[in-house]
Amino acid sequence: MNSISPSAVSAQEQAICEFQSFFPGLKSRWMAQAPGRVNLIGEHVDYNGGIVLPAAIDFYTTLVAAPIDRPEWVVRTAFDPEVEVSIPVESPVDKSGPYWTTYLRGVLNYYLESGWDIPGLKIWIQSNVPTGAGLSSSAALEVGAACLIEAATGRAMELQEKALLCQKAENVYAEAPCGFMDQFASAMGKKDHFLKIDCRDQKVEPIPMVDPEWELWIVHSGASHSIATSEYGKRRADCEAACEILGISSLREITPKKLSEALQNPGLNERVARRVKHVVTEIERADAAGEALRHSQWKTLGSLMRASHQSMRDDYEITCEEVDWMVEQIEKLPGTLGVRMTGGGFGGCVIVVMQADHLEMARGQLAEWFESRYSKALQSWTTRPVEGAQSRIIDEG
Ligand code: GLA
Repeated sequence: MNSISPSAVSAQEQAICEFQSFFPGLKSRWMAQAPGRVNLIGEHVDYNGGIVLPAAIDFYTTLVAAPIDRPEWVVRTAFDPEVEVSIPVESPVDKSGPYWTTYLRGVLNYYLESGWDIPGLKIWIQSNVPTGAGLSSSAALEVGAACLIEAATGRAMELQEKALLCQKAENVYAEAPCGFMDQFASAMGKKDHFLKIDCRDQKVEPIPMVDPEWELWIVHSGASHSIATSEYGKRRADCEAACEILGISSLREITPKKLSEALQNPGLNERVARRVKHVVTEIERADAAGEALRHSQWKTLGSLMRASHQSMRDDYEITCEEVDWMVEQIEKLPGTLGVRMTGGGFGGCVIVVMQADHLEMARGQLAEWFESRYSKALQSWTTRPVEGAQSRIIDEG
């Protein structure tokens, strides 16, 4: 594995030890590790053929496995330590079992459907990607499982195809109607870079962010996020309804210049019109933010982030009281360049671009405000973009 971060290495070492204690007497042979992601800007536009700007971050789902001589996956995990799950390696893969297994089952199913010959395995899974935070713990599990299959078979799928397979697993098996941004970021992340992904043609362009003056600070709002909730699906449905009324196949077809004309279409009700406005303006902002990042135009980036948050709050209505409160407080802190909710929404985290030398003061102040409002401790992390998912052989066997 190249450019691997120290926290990735320590998670690997820990996972090998856990494997040994859960499966005594068996020698671990393969390891796969996939990161979560944060999105700088471009929210709810991936499924509208838009532009997004995520990065893989230094939180990982780590899987360790050894072969067994029957067609079955025997899975143990830190998120459900009492349970041992058995998944027959046969197509179509059964959908039942604890919810977290749906991600594995989906990925396994679509590799089998693609004709891959997949061995029986004993698998240990652990993760330090915060759950309910909007940081793509699900994509990390899917992409990690895909990489484990690749390590165990000695084959590799092309990265975009792999990410799309993982998205399908989430759509069909976990029944979460997500786009593909998270899986692309987890699979293709690049150290010290954001990925500008054009979801219309699936083109991925890394843009560096290496200026030591700025820190990426991720702050949990305290409200839990889930995209399996019906609201995410309702936003998608509004976008599809708008396309039908406007006679287009994707909202990407509406250029910023044509937006006001589109919004005057009498078929669009007030709510759907606001959804369209968010999507079209957010795509424009994400595109501009990519350029701002490339040319170190920090002020521009900050104002685009602010406008993005307002649009998510007022037009797309995917924020919530806790998230809006958090953004308002962070706006007041000296050193904040930009802050907005990140990820699917309805809770989860905000992303802050903060002047490095203000961070410590800001963190202390915010923790105080948060504790006095919610009587609980603030959770926040500084991070840097990392490499995407990797796998390796631990022991040739
Ligand atoms: C979730 C989904 C992504 C994307 C974001 C919102 O993370 O999994 O596909 O739609 O929400 O930008």
